[in-house]
Amino acid sequence: MADVKTIAVIGAGTMGRGIAHSAALGGYRTILEDILPNALRRAESEIRANLDKAVDLGKVTARDADAAFSRLEFAGSVDEAARQADLVIEAVPEELESKIEIFTLLDKICRPTTVLASNTSSLSLTEIASVTYRPRKIVGMHFFNPVHKMKLLEIVRALETDDDTLDTAVNVGKRMGKEVVVIRESPGFVTSRINAMIGNEAFYMLQEGIASAEDIDKALKLGLNHPMGPFELVDLVGLDTRLHILEYLHKTLGEKFRPAPLLVQYVKAGRLGRKSGRGVFEYPEKKPEPAPAAAG
Ligand SMILES: NC(=O)c1ccc[n+]([C@@H]2O[C@H](COP(=O)([O-])OP(=O)(O)OC[C@H]3O[C@@H](n4cnc5c(N)ncnc54)[C@H](O)[C@@H]3O)[C@@H](O)[C@H]2O)c1
Repeated sequence: MADVKTIAVIGAGTMGRGIAHSAALGGYRTILEDILPNALRRAESEIRANLDKAVDLGKVTARDADAAFSRLEFAGSVDEAARQADLVIEAVPEELESKIEIFTLLDKICRPTTVLASNTSSLSLTEIASVTYRPRKIVGMHFFNPVHKMKLLEIVRALETDDDTLDTAVNVGKRMGKEVVVIRESPGFVTSRINAMIGNEAFYMLQEGIASAEDIDKALKLGLNHPMGPFELVDLVGLDTRLHILEYLHKTLGEKFRPAPLLVQYVKAGRLGRKSGRGVFEYPEKKPEPAPAAAG
Protein backbone atom coordinates (compact mmCIF):
# COMPACT_ATOMS: atom_id res chain seq x y z
CA MET A 1 0.00 0.00 0.00
CA ALA A 2 1.35 3.43 -0.96
CA ASP A 3 2.42 5.70 1.91
CA VAL A 4 0.27 8.75 1.15
CA LYS A 5 1.38 12.06 2.65
CA THR A 6 0.37 14.56 -0.03
CA ILE A 7 -2.90 14.59 -1.95
CA ALA A 8 -3.55 16.83 -4.96
CA VAL A 9 -7.16 17.61 -5.87
CA ILE A 10 -7.76 18.76 -9.46
CA GLY A 11 -10.88 20.93 -9.82
CA ALA A 12 -12.08 23.14 -6.96
CA GLY A 13 -15.82 23.12 -7.70
CA THR A 14 -18.64 21.64 -5.62
CA MET A 15 -16.81 18.36 -5.07
CA GLY A 16 -13.14 19.33 -5.18
CA ARG A 17 -13.63 21.78 -2.29
CA GLY A 18 -15.23 19.15 -0.11
CA ILE A 19 -12.63 16.50 -0.98
CA ALA A 20 -9.84 18.95 -0.09
CA HIS A 21 -11.61 19.80 3.20
CA SER A 22 -11.89 16.12 4.20
CA ALA A 23 -8.35 15.27 3.05
CA ALA A 24 -6.85 18.12 5.09
CA LEU A 25 -8.92 17.11 8.12
CA GLY A 26 -7.68 13.53 7.63
CA GLY A 27 -4.14 14.79 8.19
CA TYR A 28 -2.92 15.00 4.60
CA ARG A 29 -1.02 17.86 3.06
CA THR A 30 -3.58 18.84 0.43
CA ILE A 31 -3.00 20.87 -2.74
CA LEU A 32 -6.14 22.12 -4.50
CA GLU A 33 -5.96 23.24 -8.14
CA ASP A 34 -8.42 24.82 -10.61
CA ILE A 35 -8.16 26.57 -13.96
CA LEU A 36 -10.31 29.41 -12.62
CA PRO A 37 -8.60 31.57 -9.97
CA ASN A 38 -12.05 32.61 -8.77
CA ALA A 39 -12.96 28.97 -8.03
CA LEU A 40 -9.86 28.67 -5.82
CA ARG A 41 -10.74 31.85 -3.93
CA ARG A 42 -14.29 30.64 -3.34
CA ALA A 43 -12.98 27.22 -2.29
CA GLU A 44 -10.64 28.75 0.27
CA SER A 45 -13.35 30.84 1.92
CA GLU A 46 -15.93 28.05 1.78
CA ILE A 47 -13.58 25.49 3.36
CA ARG A 48 -12.70 27.96 6.14
CA ALA A 49 -16.40 28.66 6.76
CA ASN A 50 -17.29 24.94 6.81
CA LEU A 51 -14.45 24.19 9.24
CA ASP A 52 -15.65 27.02 11.51
CA LYS A 53 -19.20 25.66 11.35
CA ALA A 54 -17.92 22.20 12.35
CA VAL A 55 -16.18 23.79 15.35
CA ASP A 56 -19.38 25.64 16.34
CA LEU A 57 -21.30 22.37 16.17
CA GLY A 58 -18.71 20.64 18.35
CA LYS A 59 -17.75 18.14 15.63
CA VAL A 60 -14.14 19.30 15.35
CA THR A 61 -11.92 21.10 17.84
CA ALA A 62 -10.73 24.60 16.93
CA ARG A 63 -7.18 23.27 17.03
CA ASP A 64 -7.89 20.45 14.56
CA ALA A 65 -9.76 22.85 12.24
CA ASP A 66 -6.83 25.29 12.22
CA ALA A 67 -4.34 22.46 11.68
CA ALA A 68 -6.43 21.17 8.75
CA PHE A 69 -6.62 24.64 7.20
CA SER A 70 -2.86 25.04 7.51
CA ARG A 71 -2.36 21.77 5.59
CA LEU A 72 -4.22 23.25 2.59
CA GLU A 73 -2.37 24.78 -0.36
CA PHE A 74 -3.72 26.25 -3.58
CA ALA A 75 -2.11 25.86 -7.00
CA GLY A 76 -2.78 27.51 -10.34
CA SER A 77 -1.60 24.64 -12.55
CA VAL A 78 -1.96 20.86 -12.64
CA ASP A 79 1.81 20.59 -12.88
CA GLU A 80 2.40 22.56 -9.68
CA ALA A 81 -0.26 20.58 -7.78
CA ALA A 82 0.45 17.05 -8.94
CA ARG A 83 4.23 16.86 -9.16
CA GLN A 84 4.69 16.17 -5.43
CA ALA A 85 1.52 14.20 -4.81
CA ASP A 86 1.34 10.56 -3.69
CA LEU A 87 -2.35 10.49 -4.64
CA VAL A 88 -4.19 12.73 -7.11
CA ILE A 89 -7.98 12.97 -6.99
CA GLU A 90 -9.49 14.51 -10.13
CA ALA A 91 -12.82 16.37 -9.75
CA VAL A 92 -13.34 18.30 -13.01
CA PRO A 93 -16.72 18.27 -14.83
CA GLU A 94 -18.21 14.96 -15.89
CA GLU A 95 -16.93 14.94 -19.50
CA LEU A 96 -14.83 12.04 -20.68
CA GLU A 97 -12.66 14.23 -22.96
CA SER A 98 -11.68 16.54 -20.07
CA LYS A 99 -10.84 13.62 -17.81
CA ILE A 100 -8.78 11.90 -20.51
CA GLU A 101 -6.85 15.10 -21.15
CA ILE A 102 -6.08 15.48 -17.44
CA PHE A 103 -5.08 11.85 -16.89
CA THR A 104 -2.76 11.97 -19.91
CA LEU A 105 -1.10 15.00 -18.37
CA LEU A 106 -1.01 13.55 -14.84
CA ASP A 107 0.61 10.37 -16.13
CA LYS A 108 3.48 12.45 -17.55
CA ILE A 109 3.90 14.74 -14.54
CA CYS A 110 3.47 12.38 -11.58
CA ARG A 111 5.96 9.94 -10.10
CA PRO A 112 5.40 6.37 -11.36
CA THR A 113 4.27 5.33 -7.87
CA THR A 114 1.55 7.99 -7.62
CA VAL A 115 -2.01 6.67 -7.53
CA LEU A 116 -4.43 8.53 -9.80
CA ALA A 117 -8.08 8.60 -8.76
CA SER A 118 -11.17 10.11 -10.34
CA ASN A 119 -14.28 11.32 -8.56
CA THR A 120 -16.35 10.54 -11.67
CA SER A 121 -19.97 9.68 -10.90
CA SER A 122 -20.41 7.34 -13.83
CA LEU A 123 -17.61 7.22 -16.41
CA SER A 124 -15.42 4.19 -17.14
CA LEU A 125 -12.23 4.17 -15.09
CA THR A 126 -10.94 1.45 -17.41
CA GLU A 127 -11.30 3.80 -20.38
CA ILE A 128 -9.62 6.63 -18.46
CA ALA A 129 -6.82 4.26 -17.34
CA SER A 130 -6.20 3.16 -20.92
CA VAL A 131 -4.67 6.54 -21.83
CA THR A 132 -1.99 6.14 -19.14
CA TYR A 133 1.09 3.95 -18.75
CA ARG A 134 -0.08 3.02 -15.22
CA PRO A 135 -3.52 1.37 -15.55
CA ARG A 136 -2.88 -0.64 -12.37
CA LYS A 137 -2.63 2.62 -10.41
CA ILE A 138 -5.98 4.06 -11.52
CA VAL A 139 -9.01 3.84 -9.24
CA GLY A 140 -12.40 5.48 -8.75
CA MET A 141 -13.01 7.43 -5.53
CA HIS A 142 -16.62 8.51 -5.74
CA PHE A 143 -17.45 10.95 -2.96
CA PHE A 144 -20.88 12.40 -2.19
CA ASN A 145 -22.15 15.93 -1.94
CA PRO A 146 -21.54 17.73 0.42
CA VAL A 147 -18.33 15.75 0.90
CA HIS A 148 -17.50 17.05 4.37
CA LYS A 149 -20.88 15.78 5.63
CA MET A 150 -21.62 12.64 3.60
CA LYS A 151 -20.33 9.39 5.03
CA LEU A 152 -20.14 7.17 1.95
CA LEU A 153 -17.20 6.68 -0.42
CA GLU A 154 -17.72 4.30 -3.35
CA ILE A 155 -14.38 2.88 -4.42
CA VAL A 156 -14.42 1.60 -7.95
CA ARG A 157 -12.10 -1.11 -9.19
CA ALA A 158 -11.35 -0.80 -12.92
CA LEU A 159 -10.31 -3.77 -15.03
CA GLU A 160 -6.61 -3.44 -14.22
CA THR A 161 -6.62 -1.73 -10.79
CA ASP A 162 -4.24 -3.72 -8.57
CA ASP A 163 -4.76 -4.68 -4.90
CA ASP A 164 -2.16 -2.21 -3.69
CA THR A 165 -3.96 0.72 -5.36
CA LEU A 166 -7.30 -0.45 -4.02
CA ASP A 167 -5.90 -0.75 -0.48
CA THR A 168 -4.40 2.74 -0.78
CA ALA A 169 -7.76 4.25 -1.77
CA VAL A 170 -9.62 2.39 1.01
CA ASN A 171 -7.08 3.47 3.62
CA VAL A 172 -7.14 7.13 2.55
CA GLY A 173 -10.95 7.08 2.47
CA LYS A 174 -11.10 5.76 6.02
CA ARG A 175 -8.64 8.38 7.25
CA MET A 176 -10.85 11.00 5.64
CA GLY A 177 -13.63 9.69 7.90
CA LYS A 178 -15.61 7.81 5.26
CA GLU A 179 -17.43 4.48 5.22
CA VAL A 180 -16.21 2.63 2.17
CA VAL A 181 -17.88 0.26 -0.29
CA VAL A 182 -15.77 -1.37 -3.00
CA ILE A 183 -17.47 -2.16 -6.27
CA ARG A 184 -16.53 -3.53 -9.68
CA GLU A 185 -16.70 -0.97 -12.47
CA SER A 186 -20.06 -0.60 -14.19
CA PRO A 187 -21.65 2.58 -15.66
CA GLY A 188 -22.97 4.75 -12.85
CA PHE A 189 -21.68 2.32 -10.21
CA VAL A 190 -24.40 1.61 -7.60
CA THR A 191 -25.49 5.04 -6.40
CA SER A 192 -25.43 7.19 -9.56
CA ARG A 193 -27.26 4.58 -11.61
CA ILE A 194 -30.18 4.37 -9.19
CA ASN A 195 -30.18 8.08 -8.41
CA ALA A 196 -30.12 9.12 -12.07
CA MET A 197 -33.08 6.86 -12.78
CA ILE A 198 -35.19 8.38 -9.98
CA GLY A 199 -34.15 11.96 -10.78
CA ASN A 200 -34.86 11.57 -14.51
CA GLU A 201 -38.28 10.06 -13.87
CA ALA A 202 -39.08 13.05 -11.65
CA PHE A 203 -38.30 15.43 -14.57
CA TYR A 204 -40.53 13.38 -16.90
CA MET A 205 -43.35 13.64 -14.33
CA LEU A 206 -42.85 17.39 -13.97
CA GLN A 207 -42.89 17.90 -17.73
CA GLU A 208 -46.05 15.75 -18.04
CA GLY A 209 -47.73 18.02 -15.47
CA ILE A 210 -48.42 15.14 -13.07
CA ALA A 211 -47.54 17.25 -10.02
CA SER A 212 -45.61 20.35 -9.05
CA ALA A 213 -41.88 20.11 -8.26
CA GLU A 214 -42.70 20.88 -4.61
CA ASP A 215 -45.26 18.07 -4.42
CA ILE A 216 -43.01 15.50 -6.15
CA ASP A 217 -40.30 16.30 -3.59
CA LYS A 218 -42.82 16.16 -0.74
CA ALA A 219 -44.18 12.79 -1.93
CA LEU A 220 -40.74 11.16 -1.97
CA LYS A 221 -39.75 12.63 1.37
CA LEU A 222 -42.90 11.89 3.33
CA GLY A 223 -44.11 8.80 1.46
CA LEU A 224 -40.85 7.03 0.68
CA ASN A 225 -38.73 8.42 3.50
CA HIS A 226 -36.11 9.96 1.20
CA PRO A 227 -34.18 12.60 3.17
CA MET A 228 -34.32 14.97 0.16
CA GLY A 229 -36.69 15.25 -2.78
CA PRO A 230 -35.29 14.55 -6.27
CA PHE A 231 -35.44 18.24 -7.28
CA GLU A 232 -33.85 19.55 -4.09
CA LEU A 233 -31.13 16.97 -4.68
CA VAL A 234 -30.54 17.75 -8.36
CA ASP A 235 -30.27 21.45 -7.50
CA LEU A 236 -27.53 20.53 -5.05
CA VAL A 237 -25.77 18.12 -7.43
CA GLY A 238 -25.98 20.47 -10.43
CA LEU A 239 -28.34 19.90 -13.37
CA ASP A 240 -25.41 19.90 -15.80
CA THR A 241 -23.62 17.21 -13.80
CA ARG A 242 -26.82 15.10 -13.71
CA LEU A 243 -27.30 15.56 -17.47
CA HIS A 244 -23.73 14.43 -18.22
CA ILE A 245 -24.33 11.30 -16.12
CA LEU A 246 -27.64 10.53 -17.85
CA GLU A 247 -26.13 11.02 -21.31
CA TYR A 248 -23.43 8.53 -20.45
CA LEU A 249 -25.85 6.00 -18.94
CA HIS A 250 -28.12 6.39 -21.98
CA LYS A 251 -25.18 5.63 -24.26
CA THR A 252 -23.93 2.65 -22.24
CA LEU A 253 -27.07 1.12 -20.66
CA GLY A 254 -29.78 2.06 -23.13
CA GLU A 255 -33.08 3.79 -23.67
CA LYS A 256 -34.33 3.71 -20.09
CA PHE A 257 -31.79 6.43 -19.26
CA ARG A 258 -32.72 8.90 -22.07
CA PRO A 259 -32.48 12.37 -20.41
CA ALA A 260 -35.86 14.07 -19.93
CA PRO A 261 -36.24 16.96 -22.43
CA LEU A 262 -37.14 19.35 -19.58
CA LEU A 263 -33.81 18.68 -17.87
CA VAL A 264 -31.97 19.34 -21.15
CA GLN A 265 -33.90 22.59 -21.58
CA TYR A 266 -33.09 23.79 -18.04
CA VAL A 267 -29.38 23.18 -18.60
CA LYS A 268 -29.53 25.08 -21.92
CA ALA A 269 -31.16 27.98 -20.04
CA GLY A 270 -28.25 28.02 -17.56
CA ARG A 271 -30.48 26.76 -14.72
CA LEU A 272 -27.78 24.59 -13.18
CA GLY A 273 -28.99 24.49 -9.58
CA ARG A 274 -27.78 26.17 -6.40
CA LYS A 275 -24.41 27.01 -7.92
CA SER A 276 -25.99 29.26 -10.58
CA GLY A 277 -28.71 30.69 -8.30
CA ARG A 278 -31.51 28.85 -10.10
CA GLY A 279 -32.27 25.24 -10.99
CA VAL A 280 -35.67 23.67 -10.52
CA PHE A 281 -36.06 26.08 -7.59
CA GLU A 282 -34.67 29.58 -7.09
CA TYR A 283 -31.87 30.57 -4.70
CA PRO A 284 -31.93 34.38 -4.67
CA GLU A 285 -29.35 34.48 -1.86
CA LYS A 286 -26.74 32.80 -4.11
CA LYS A 287 -24.78 35.00 -6.47
CA PRO A 288 -24.51 33.31 -9.89
CA GLU A 289 -21.09 31.73 -10.45
CA PRO A 290 -19.46 31.37 -13.88
CA ALA A 291 -20.71 28.03 -15.17
CA PRO A 292 -18.01 26.50 -17.38
CA ALA A 293 -19.74 23.12 -17.33
CA ALA A 294 -22.98 24.48 -18.80
CA ALA A 295 -22.36 22.90 -22.23
CA GLY A 296 -24.28 19.72 -22.94
N1 LIG B 1 -21.93 17.52 -7.85
C1 LIG B 1 -22.14 16.35 -7.25
O1 LIG B 1 -23.06 16.19 -6.45
C2 LIG B 1 -21.21 15.20 -7.51
C3 LIG B 1 -21.27 14.07 -6.67
C4 LIG B 1 -20.35 13.03 -6.86
C5 LIG B 1 -19.43 13.11 -7.91
N2 LIG B 1 -19.43 14.20 -8.73
C6 LIG B 1 -18.44 14.25 -9.82
O2 LIG B 1 -17.39 15.14 -9.43
C7 LIG B 1 -16.84 15.76 -10.60
C8 LIG B 1 -16.88 17.26 -10.43
O3 LIG B 1 -18.22 17.66 -10.28
P1 LIG B 1 -18.59 19.06 -9.58
O4 LIG B 1 -20.04 18.98 -9.28
O5 LIG B 1 -17.63 19.38 -8.50
O6 LIG B 1 -18.36 20.06 -10.81
P2 LIG B 1 -18.24 21.67 -10.76
O7 LIG B 1 -18.67 22.15 -12.09
O8 LIG B 1 -18.88 22.21 -9.53
O9 LIG B 1 -16.65 21.91 -10.57
C9 LIG B 1 -15.69 21.54 -11.53
C10 LIG B 1 -14.49 22.43 -11.35
O10 LIG B 1 -13.45 21.95 -12.23
C11 LIG B 1 -12.79 23.07 -12.79
N3 LIG B 1 -12.12 22.64 -14.02
C12 LIG B 1 -12.65 22.44 -15.26
N4 LIG B 1 -11.68 22.02 -16.10
C13 LIG B 1 -10.53 21.95 -15.38
C14 LIG B 1 -9.18 21.59 -15.69
N5 LIG B 1 -8.85 21.22 -16.91
N6 LIG B 1 -8.25 21.64 -14.72
C15 LIG B 1 -8.59 22.06 -13.45
N7 LIG B 1 -9.85 22.41 -13.09
C16 LIG B 1 -10.80 22.36 -14.05
C17 LIG B 1 -13.88 24.10 -13.00
O11 LIG B 1 -13.36 25.42 -13.09
C18 LIG B 1 -14.75 23.89 -11.75
O12 LIG B 1 -14.33 24.74 -10.68
C19 LIG B 1 -17.65 15.22 -11.78
O13 LIG B 1 -16.99 14.13 -12.34
C20 LIG B 1 -18.96 14.81 -11.13
O14 LIG B 1 -19.64 13.81 -11.87
C21 LIG B 1 -20.29 15.26 -8.55
